[in-house]
Amino acid sequence: MVHAVYPGSFDPLHNGHVDIIRRAAGIYGSLTVAVLDNPLKAGALLSTQERVAIIQDVVAGMKDVKVDSFDGLLAEYAGQIGAKVIVKGLRAISDFEYELQMAHLNRQLNPNVETTFIMTATRWSYVSSSRVKEIAKYGADVSKLVPRATLHKLKERFAQATV
Ligand code: PNS
Repeated sequence: MVHAVYPGSFDPLHNGHVDIIRRAAGIYGSLTVAVLDNPLKAGALLSTQERVAIIQDVVAGMKDVKVDSFDGLLAEYAGQIGAKVIVKGLRAISDFEYELQMAHLNRQLNPNVETTFIMTATRWSYVSSSRVKEIAKYGADVSKLVPRATLHKLKERFAQATV
């Protein structure tokens, strides 16, 4: 049974991420969605705990999918949790150069872990967490782009900001 890890910032989780989680869960025996614990990242909106909680809500009905957070190197973390595969989503050619570099470096750091790519469904290929945050910040509707748990958190966060 192959254990895979799907790492990311997920700040916040959007429908493109959910699509990759579902499809990866259908391929691998078990899947850990791993949130990078990066409290100091510029432009971060949600805490690690908030991001984990949203993903937990979304994967609640999915068999053999769990959620975790990590800091440090992904290649080391994958080894620690016994993951043989790193799953990444590719939206467009523009993602590829960065992902190729990461895949090579991760393989050098841990040759026992392979990076695999799932092409994001075309209907979500234009969605990114940064754009979701930007649109939500201005009070516009992102309900077609994100799961309910994300929408709820965004409404709560930006309602607070305008009080
Ligand atoms: O959703 P993102 O921001 O594209 O996810 C990026 C992530 C978390 C996968 C990447 O930043 C990462 O793996 N960070 C952990 C540190 C690390 O291993 N860096 C790579 C060294 S080659």
